[in-house]
Amino acid sequence: MWDELKAHHEAVAGRRIERLFGADEARAETFSLTALDMLFDYSKTNIDAAGLGLLIDLLDKAKVAERRDAMFSGAKINETEGRAVLHTALRNLDGDAVIVDGQDVIPGVHEVLSRMEAFAGDVRSGAYAGQGGKITDVVNIGIGGSDLGPAMGYRALSPYADGPRCHFVSNVDPGDIAEVLRACDPATTLVIVASKTFTTIETMTNARTARAWMGETVSEPAAQFAALSSAVDKTSDFGIDPARVFGFEDWVGGRYSMWGPIGLSLMIAIGPEAFRAFLRGGQAMDRHFRAAEWHENMPALLALVGIWHNQICGHATRAVLPYDNRLGRLPAYLQQLEMESNGKSVGMDGKPLTTDSGPIVWGEPGTNGQHAFYQLIHQGTRVVPAEFLIAAEGHEEELHHQHQLLVANCLAQSEALMKGRTLDEAREKVAAKFEGDELERQAAHRVFPGNRPSTTLAYPKLTPEMLGQIVALYEHRVFVEGTILGINSYDQWGVELGKELATALQPIVEGKEEPAGKDGSTAGLVTFLRKNGT
Ligand code: F6P
Repeated sequence: MWDELKAHHEAVAGRRIERLFGADEARAETFSLTALDMLFDYSKTNIDAAGLGLLIDLLDKAKVAERRDAMFSGAKINETEGRAVLHTALRNLDGDAVIVDGQDVIPGVHEVLSRMEAFAGDVRSGAYAGQGGKITDVVNIGIGGSDLGPAMGYRALSPYADGPRCHFVSNVDPGDIAEVLRACDPATTLVIVASKTFTTIETMTNARTARAWMGETVSEPAAQFAALSSAVDKTSDFGIDPARVFGFEDWVGGRYSMWGPIGLSLMIAIGPEAFRAFLRGGQAMDRHFRAAEWHENMPALLALVGIWHNQICGHATRAVLPYDNRLGRLPAYLQQLEMESNGKSVGMDGKPLTTDSGPIVWGEPGTNGQHAFYQLIHQGTRVVPAEFLIAAEGHEEELHHQHQLLVANCLAQSEALMKGRTLDEAREKVAAKFEGDELERQAAHRVFPGNRPSTTLAYPKLTPEMLGQIVALYEHRVFVEGTILGINSYDQWGVELGKELATALQPIVEGKEEPAGKDGSTAGLVTFLRKNGT
């Protein structure tokens, strides 16, 4: 199958995407899909009917449907850790039972959701208050999946945020927490310690710093702490009242966890009702993913386009370009979701992958990126498949004309990437100013090769429900890509080594031990940093 796809790619690699539209009037329709509230347009790629057929065959060969059903039903598909993968259960608001180890997990999910809603309601109303009065600020301390989801969601849904201000502290760099705490009043701040394991060194260090900061002003700092964790014993050791501890099971991976307790800060900000709308959006995408035929299945098609560009065409990176400023943290969120999930070198069977692993994901919102790195996307020597996101409508009715300008920019970029500009056209541009050799030289700089692939995901408006659809869409895309590649998308052993070495280096950095035995580079850096104040 891979060989056939590669041969197909070789056969079509030289053709112009633009010409495909000329050859097939229905191309835009054929190679796009409307599902739920979204339109996914992948017609500005070099995928044709034969290529799509071969890509869809990959889904069957990899038994994606069987594995998808196994995931939803609670089977332990995270085989290296012996765990089920059930973040979908967190948004299963009115679905069927899901059995793990002989027990239906849904009542427990709903019970925690109700407790979260009651607490969020109390914080918002003032029924739960700080020692100086109603909570004005919420500080979520967490890292990776315990930070990126709620931080991304808080920014995305800011028009719906009518509760206390939320802040997110993730980095162990003291500059992160210092900046946030400076803006807060300890007597009216709620600190949420978000850590699935409750052992992550960055989070626990920041949590202790926050507790000390609060203890300088209020008599019972722990009373203004809540915890989100699956290690409930450890939260008690930290002194947090179990009434404010919201637990979840090991079948929720960190980077898939914003739907449950890890989303508490977002729920406090936008209110339980809007948070439920977010869950409903995710649940709608789950239903679509489970029911739709492959050629009408949005997560599957998104994954196949990804496989085509990365594993078949050999484009190593993928740019996520939201023309929606409030999705400014989506690229960072997707970096963890996609790269921690599918950045592996061995398959489920422990054998080396025979294809490349998942792509390098990066991006920034448009139009800002246009004035920064788009130069390389348009004229660099490497091809970067671009993924645009655009809302039909913004939230600022009075600034509708600005939104229209944003839309025009988004559409212009995908058009420019595809069409490019020929040497003749470039000559015409500069003919009035230059002549002879100088005209040729100047024109060459203004050529755009074009034929650069992009996709566009268009949606009506960035509401809580819409965000739920978008996040679940990307989660399922990662699942499909991982399954095709034979990867376990739900472990993350690659983060371990650095953690171990950091622990070993700490006493050396502190000057309690010497860097003897370390490589010359590391020893030299330690010496320089210690000499200069570390
Ligand atoms: O970096 C590894 C990781 O385990 C991520 O997968 C996770 O999201 C993050 O650390 C935070 O973990 P925890 O929620 O246990 O503090």
